[in-house]
Formats: sequence, C-alpha cells, structure tokens
Amino acid sequence: MRRYLRVVLLCLACGFCSLLYAFSQLAVSLEEGAADAGGKPQAAAASWPAAGGRGAERGAGPGADAGTPDRCKDFTLCYWNPYWMLPSDVCGMNCFWEAAFRYSLKIQPVEKMHLAVVACGERLEETMTMLKSALIFSIKPLQFHIFAEDQLHDSFKARLDSWSFLQTFNYTLYPITFPSENAAEWKKLFKPCASQRLFLPLILKEVDSLLYVDTDILFLRPVDDIWSLLKKFNSTQIAAMAPEHEEPRIGWYNRFARHPYYGKTGVNSGVMLMNMTRMRRKYFKNDMTPVRLQWGEILMPLLKKYKLNITWGDQDLLNIMFFHNPESLFVFPCQWNYRPDHCIYGSNCQEAEEEGIFILHGNRGVYHDDKQPAFRAVYEALRNCSFEDDNVRSLLKPLELQLQKTVHTYCGKIYKIFIKQLTKSVRDLYDRPPKQR
Ligand SMILES: *[C@@H]1O[C@H](CO)[C@@H](O)[C@H](O)[C@H]1NC(C)=O
Ligand SMILES: *[C@@H]1O[C@H](CO)[C@@H](O)[C@H](O)[C@H]1NC(C)=O
Ligand SMILES: *[C@@H]1O[C@H](CO)[C@@H](O)[C@H](O)[C@H]1NC(C)=O
Ligand SMILES: *[C@@H]1O[C@H](CO)[C@@H](O)[C@H](O)[C@H]1NC(C)=O
Ligand SMILES: *[C@@H]1O[C@H](CO)[C@@H](O)[C@H](O)[C@H]1NC(C)=O
Repeated sequence: MRRYLRVVLLCLACGFCSLLYAFSQLAVSLEEGAADAGGKPQAAAASWPAAGGRGAERGAGPGADAGTPDRCKDFTLCYWNPYWMLPSDVCGMNCFWEAAFRYSLKIQPVEKMHLAVVACGERLEETMTMLKSALIFSIKPLQFHIFAEDQLHDSFKARLDSWSFLQTFNYTLYPITFPSENAAEWKKLFKPCASQRLFLPLILKEVDSLLYVDTDILFLRPVDDIWSLLKKFNSTQIAAMAPEHEEPRIGWYNRFARHPYYGKTGVNSGVMLMNMTRMRRKYFKNDMTPVRLQWGEILMPLLKKYKLNITWGDQDLLNIMFFHNPESLFVFPCQWNYRPDHCIYGSNCQEAEEEGIFILHGNRGVYHDDKQPAFRAVYEALRNCSFEDDNVRSLLKPLELQLQKTVHTYCGKIYKIFIKQLTKSVRDLYDRPPKQR
C-alpha cells in the first residue's frame, strides 16, 4: 500500500516537472521566433541561460551583459501578458520565472498591525468598542495584545471569540505583568495598570512595532493610516504622539507640571505609535547619570526621582524621557488624538476642523456621563453597531441626528468634524472589494 502511494507521488512529481519543462520550452520557442523576426538571434540565445538560471536577478548575468540589455524589458510587463501574448520585446523565460517568484511572494504572510491596550476595572465594554472600531475600517490584519486584570480574561475571550468569523484579527490576552527583576518593587511604587504600558517594549520582545491606545479610543479611520506613519519616522525617531494641548493658555503641563515635559505643552500618551525595535536599542540621555541608559534601565531611576512630582503617571514619565531626547519623538497632529480639551472651551484643533477627527479619545469619562454629549453619541453609535454590512452604513444618519441635538455645547457646535472622516471611512469601506471588508 505504502509503496503504491510512493509510486503515485513519484509520478505526480515527474508530471509536474515535465509540465514545467514544457512551459519553459514553449516560452523559449516563442521567444526565438520573436528574436528571429527581430534579426538578432545570437544575442537572444546568449541571454537565455543567464535569465533562466538566475531567475529574478536577470540583468546581472553575463549573458545579459554580452547581449541585449534593452531587448528584455522589465518583468513587470509580464504581469499583464499571458505567455502567448508577449510583446516582442519581453523575454518569455523571464515571465516564467517571474510568475513563480510572484507566487512565492503571495504566499508569504502579509504584514500585521499590532495594537495593544491595557484594561483594568470597568473597562470591558469600552475596550470592546475600541477594538470593534479598529476592525470595522482596517484593511491589513490586526494582532491585538490585550493586557487585562485576571477577572476580565474570561469575558474578553468570550466576546473576542464571537468575532472569530472575521478572520482579520488575532488576539493574545496577558495578565498585568512586569519584567521579573523588580516586579515587586514596581507593583509597590506605582499603580500596576498605569505603568504596564511602559514595559511593552520589554514584554513583547518579538514585536517590531506597536500602536498603544487607551481603552477610551475610537478609530474613525483605518488603523492602516496611523500605522503608515511608522514609515515616515526619520532615523532618530522611535515613537509618535500628539501634543497634550494646542492652546498653551489652557495647557496643563506648562501651567502646573513640577517636572520637565516635551515641547511647549507636553505630549499625550493615549495614542502612542512605537517602533519598539528602536526603543529597545536606543541609549537615552537623562538627568540622573551622565551615561546613557537603555529603556529597561531608565524606568526605575526615573520613577524614584520623580514619583513625588508626577500627576498623570506613565504619561509624565514619557514626557520627561522625551524632554531629554526630543529628536526621538515624531509628533502627529491633534486629529489623531482628539480629546474634549480640543473643544470644551472653543475649538482649538485646526487640523480636525479642516479634515475631521481621525481618532477620538474620550478621556475624563465623557463616553459615560452627560458632560460632552457629542463624544457620547459617537461612542454609543459604534457600541451599538455590529459587523453586518448595512449596519455600519446605517449608523451615520441616526448619529448625525443625535449630534445635532448637542449644538448647545461647545463640542456639539462643531459636530460636523465628528462625522466628516467617519462618513468618508464608511464610504471607502463599501467601495472596497467585499473580500477585504
Ligand atoms: C491567527 O492565528 C492562527 C493560529 O496561530 C493562524 O492560523 C491565523 O492565520 C491567524 N490569523 C490572522 C489573521 O493572522
Ligand atoms: C519636585 O517639585 C518640587 C516643587 O516644585 C521641586 O522643588 C523639585 O525640584 C521637584 N523635583 C524634581 C526631581 O524635579
Ligand atoms: C523599526 O525600526 C527598525 C530598525 O531601524 C527597522 O528595521 C524596522 O523596519 C522599523 N519598523 C517599521 C514598521 O518601520
Ligand atoms: C528627526 O526629526 C526630529 C524632529 O523633527 C528632529 O529633531 C531630528 O533631528 C531628526 N533627525 C534626523 C536624523 O534628521
Ligand atoms: C444603543 O443601545 C442602547 C441599548 O441597547 C439603547 O438604549 C440606545 O438608545 C442605543 N443608542 C443608539 C445611539 O443607538
């Protein structure tokens, strides 16, 4: 029985090989025909072994040098032409190899976007809404890293597994953890949940880049768009955040902080994009020792020095860190991290007024009370919406009506910026081919 199987396998393999051979012969003969017609048979013949043998690296071979660099055009032309319709200036053999090469590219995994969140206390619903907003609009697959208190794990698992039909994401649940060396000390010094995210580069050692968001974030456009900012980092930048304030007169750090902070008004860490490979490699300037320290070494001394002076926990530590290393921070505009501060005393985020809000950040609990009904309306619309196609589209109209009821507040006065980008994202979603939705 086994021998029989082996024979069959062998035959299949032979069949496949002869098919390959037949194809390459066909390609060669087609080419030779074309070459004869072109009147340069020798040059054409000389280029075959080089092109065929080296596969995708054609052009570098001796045959190509000796022969006709201009005759065999770029591969990419092949994409549009089956073998029997090759334009006379493209080498059939190259197309053959290119097809194989393209196939192997295709089966390689697509780049994933990594999204991390830390959820403690009563944050399950809010976190699920954030994750949902990320999934609705995003294009590339997402990998969620969810750090949560133990008692939340079962509920997260149940809710996320109910979305598994989507196939565009994976998730890992982690307990709140610290790197082993001085875990106890950290737990004692600082609220565990608040400082968790500082350790992400050390815990997620295998992950190159990560988008960290607070639980009260809502994505109003694809995660892909903020993810693409990673490619805009210059050689010294390792992380990206938005300013804490646009308007220094109402800024917190510049009026009250008792520690150094980045830039004019500090940065807000609710949406933080990190190239963690670079964070792990960098040696940071600091005001504790004359030597530069790595991420893992700097946190503890920093906390010890400033613990009596910091108010907003980990965000303050990040501000101190980037005060000393300003060349390492990429600052993105306020529409990527839009908070009540940008409108409660009048609108001060100009980019959002022009292009709409890209990422909404309902800090100070505004999704759950009645202080900022415009923020709450967007949250509830997304919380109530499910993944069914028309459901997403049909959230817009009721949301707009809801927002129109908030025009008595400063944020409601400019309610149009809350749905400007959202409307566009929904439209793009339906314009995409269905398999990508
Ligand atoms: C999620 O993980 C499973 C198993 O590790 C894998 O088979 C699947 O392709 C992954 N899905 C995505 C979207 O990455
Ligand atoms: C903490 O704040 C106090 C009062 O403003 C200041 O005197 C002190 O230098 C600060 N400590 C550090 C480490 O900056
Ligand atoms: C992060 O930085 C490393 C080292 O500079 C680089 O190799 C990698 O491509 C960067 N990641 C992204 C997503 O740009
Ligand atoms: C990268 O950009 C930052 C902020 O604009 C700047 O301070 C830094 O000098 C730049 N680095 C390089 C190598 O140009
Ligand atoms: C969302 O659902 C809740 C309860 O299911 C309902 O009370 C509320 O009116 C809905 N809100 C919106 C904006 O659809």
